[in-house]
Amino acid sequence: MSALTDLSSYSAYPIVQAPMAGGASNPRLAAAVSGAGGLGFLAAGYKTSDAMYQEIRQLRDATSQPFGVNLFMPQPDTVDPSAVAVYAEQLAGEAAWYGTELGDPETGSDDAYDAKVAILLEDPVPMVSFTFGCPDRAVLDAFAKAGTCTVVTVTTPAEALAAQWAGADALCVQGVEAGGHQGTHRDDPQLDGSGLGLLSLITQVREAVQLPMIAAGGLMRGEQIAAVLAAGASAAALGTAFLVCPESGASALHKRALTDPVYARTELTRAFSGRPARGLLNRFVREHGRYAPAGYPQVHHLTQPVRRAAAGLGDPQGMALWAGQGHRLARELSAGALVETLAAEQRAAQEARA
Ligand SMILES: Cc1cc2nc3c(=O)[nH]c(=O)nc-3n(C[C@H](O)[C@H](O)[C@H](O)COP(=O)(O)O)c2cc1C
Repeated sequence: MSALTDLSSYSAYPIVQAPMAGGASNPRLAAAVSGAGGLGFLAAGYKTSDAMYQEIRQLRDATSQPFGVNLFMPQPDTVDPSAVAVYAEQLAGEAAWYGTELGDPETGSDDAYDAKVAILLEDPVPMVSFTFGCPDRAVLDAFAKAGTCTVVTVTTPAEALAAQWAGADALCVQGVEAGGHQGTHRDDPQLDGSGLGLLSLITQVREAVQLPMIAAGGLMRGEQIAAVLAAGASAAALGTAFLVCPESGASALHKRALTDPVYARTELTRAFSGRPARGLLNRFVREHGRYAPAGYPQVHHLTQPVRRAAAGLGDPQGMALWAGQGHRLARELSAGALVETLAAEQRAAQEARA
C-alpha cells in the first residue's frame, strides 16, 4: 500500500478515533465513528486473540466502512523482578484498603502478539497499528501482502526512522500531551521528562522521514486538527475526546472525572502499569508515582485487582483515569455527532485561513 497521504480511501474526514485498550474502544464506538465518516479503531491490548476476533466480527456486522485494529508489541525481558517486588510491598496497604490481593506480576508480557498477528493475516482488516515498539520487516511485509495498511506509533524522530526502515506504511506520531500510555519503543527512565510536544514532534518527524503521519495528543477541537494538518499530518487521532461519548466503554466514573474540577491536571506516571502513561492526577498517582519502577507489564498485572476493586467501590482515587492534556475540553456528544462537529470546526478553521 502506498500510503496514507490519501486518507480519503479510509475515511471521508481525516479524523481517527484513537485506539484505547481497557474497555473504552469497542465495536460500538468504532462503528459509530467509521459510520460518521471518521476512522474507528479497536484496541486488542489486554485481550485474548479470540476476544479480539469476536470484536472484529461484531464491528463488521455493524459497519461496512474501513476500521483499524491496534496491537501491543511484546516487551523485552528487562524488568528487574526485585524492583517490582519492592513496589508490591509499597502497595500492600492499597490492596488491604480495597479488600483485595495484588495481582501476579508474571501473568505474561507478550499480550498474545503472535496469535493476534496470525488472525489478522488470515482474515485481514484495512489497517493495523502497533504501539510500544516496531514489528520486524517480515511482519510488516506480510501485512502489506495481505493488503493491510500498517501504522507504527512513534514518540521521537529516531523511532520514526526505525519504523520507516522496517517498512511501515504510516506513523502515528504521538505527542507527550496524549492520554494513556506513551507508545515509546523502549521505556528508559533516563529519558523521563524529555517527551516532545505534538507540534514540535510532527515537524521534526516530517523532516526526518517521508512517511504519512497521523498526529495524536491533546487534540479536542477541529481547529487543532486543522493546525496539525497544516503542520504536515495527513490525519488526526483523538482518544480523550471520544472517551466521554456514550458509545465508549469507559466507566461512568472515568467519564465524569475528565471534566470534574477536582482533577486539575494530568501527569505521566508509572504508578499503575510500570510504563509512562498520562492520567488525571489522583490520590494513587500522587502517593505512588514518585517511586513506581519501570516494570511494564508486570506492574500492570500487579495493580489490576486494586484498580478493579476501586472501580467496584466507586472510588476514582484508586483508578487509572487515563486522560490527555485537553481533557477539560471533552464534550459529551454521541460519537457520530462528535465526528461531524470536529469536521465542521476543522473546515471553518481552514476556510478562515484561506
Ligand atoms: C483510555 C486510553 C487508552 C489507550 N489505549 C491505547 C492502546 O490500547 N493502544 C494505543 O496505541 N494507544 C492507546 N492510547 C493512546 C491513544 O491511542 C492516543 O494516542 C491518545 O489518546 C491521544 O491523545 P488524547 O487522549 O489527548 O487524544 C490510549 C489512550 C487512552 C486515553
